[in-house]
Amino acid sequence: MLENFVYEGKPLVVVTGMRRLGKTSLILVALNEMRYPYLLIDTRGLPPNPSYRDLYERIANAINDFLERNRSVVDSLKHYLERVKGVEFLGISVSFSWSKDSRVDLVQLFERMDRWARDRGTRLVVVIDEAQRIRGRLAKMFVEVLAHIYDYAENTTVIVSGSEVGVLYGFLGVGDPEHPLYGRHFSEVKLKRFDREQSMDFLYRGFRQFGMEPPSDVVEYAVDRLDGVVGWLVEFGARCVELGKIDRGIVDLVLDEASKLVLAEIEHLLATRPRESRERYLAVLKAIASGYRTWSQVREYVSRELGASLPKSVLHNILHNLLEMTLIEKIVEGRNVWYRIADPILEHALRKMHRF
Ligand SMILES: Nc1ncnc2c1ncn2[C@@H]1O[C@H](COP(=O)(O)OP(=O)(O)OP(=O)(O)O)[C@@H](O)[C@H]1O
Ligand SMILES: [Mg+2]
Repeated sequence: MLENFVYEGKPLVVVTGMRRLGKTSLILVALNEMRYPYLLIDTRGLPPNPSYRDLYERIANAINDFLERNRSVVDSLKHYLERVKGVEFLGISVSFSWSKDSRVDLVQLFERMDRWARDRGTRLVVVIDEAQRIRGRLAKMFVEVLAHIYDYAENTTVIVSGSEVGVLYGFLGVGDPEHPLYGRHFSEVKLKRFDREQSMDFLYRGFRQFGMEPPSDVVEYAVDRLDGVVGWLVEFGARCVELGKIDRGIVDLVLDEASKLVLAEIEHLLATRPRESRERYLAVLKAIASGYRTWSQVREYVSRELGASLPKSVLHNILHNLLEMTLIEKIVEGRNVWYRIADPILEHALRKMHRF
């Protein structure tokens, strides 16, 4: 599906799904198979409030990686990019100016890249992995650039991925008429977790590749706990291969180790909020993980735990934001509405957590 969108010349393709469902892997496999020139802009490690320098360095790195992989096009690309303001070539690598007066003109940069692709009879693919991490004033500037690419760069497809799905939609201007990308249709690949059968099949096949035959009760135990998230299934499988055995203990080991990781990730996601707010978020998550799953149950639990009644509007807000971050899912069954923690490991970690 992803490759077809690119072959069809779609200007903007979005890959969404909660963490560790294989978004980055999917994109890398597609890029590899399609054999189009591509730029992979990596937003990992961007601070909560990225600067121009942070972003420009990552775009320059993406071009440098590309040149590294395609030495034979250095001269031709140089020819197209040389006159772009703020771009400087040093041998086979490029550097970008980010200072206010001489900053690289990104619109011009991508226009030139697009023309280069056109003249070579190919398509350029620009990937922004976890695009929602580009925040604040930079996001405003960058989406204008994306809107320009969307409208004018006919030989370019932009792929953006995001695990904080609602936040990514916000970045893309979904539902915001003031946004530069508003009303521009995008094609979407939504990654879902594996169902039980797929998870089992995945484990059996994986183990067989290593000449191991897993006991069926262990596979069921693993699938129950790791709940269709490919990244965790892989982690479990890899551990078993490493240790040369397959048993329940390894599932528990993965759960415990991964718990620390996901809790650290949550802390990072909430890091920009004041302490009081962080505690409320964690308390809400803990409530849901512990089985207090409806709106009023969550409110009761959190008010009790924090020793003060949680205002309704605050709870609304928190649930809304947790949904946007894809940390929780909302289940609607007839008139009943309840919430659950999206990631089974996070659920496990929260249950075991004692304080906020
Ligand atoms: N189809 C697949 N088959 C086997 N392993 C896979 C598959 N997809 C992903 N994986 C493995 O699962 C793990 C998570 O995948 P990946 O990093 O691509 O997910 P992601 O959705 O980008 O996660 P994140 O939200 O952390 O960026 C990786 O170790 C990857 O190698
Ligand atoms: Mg990823």
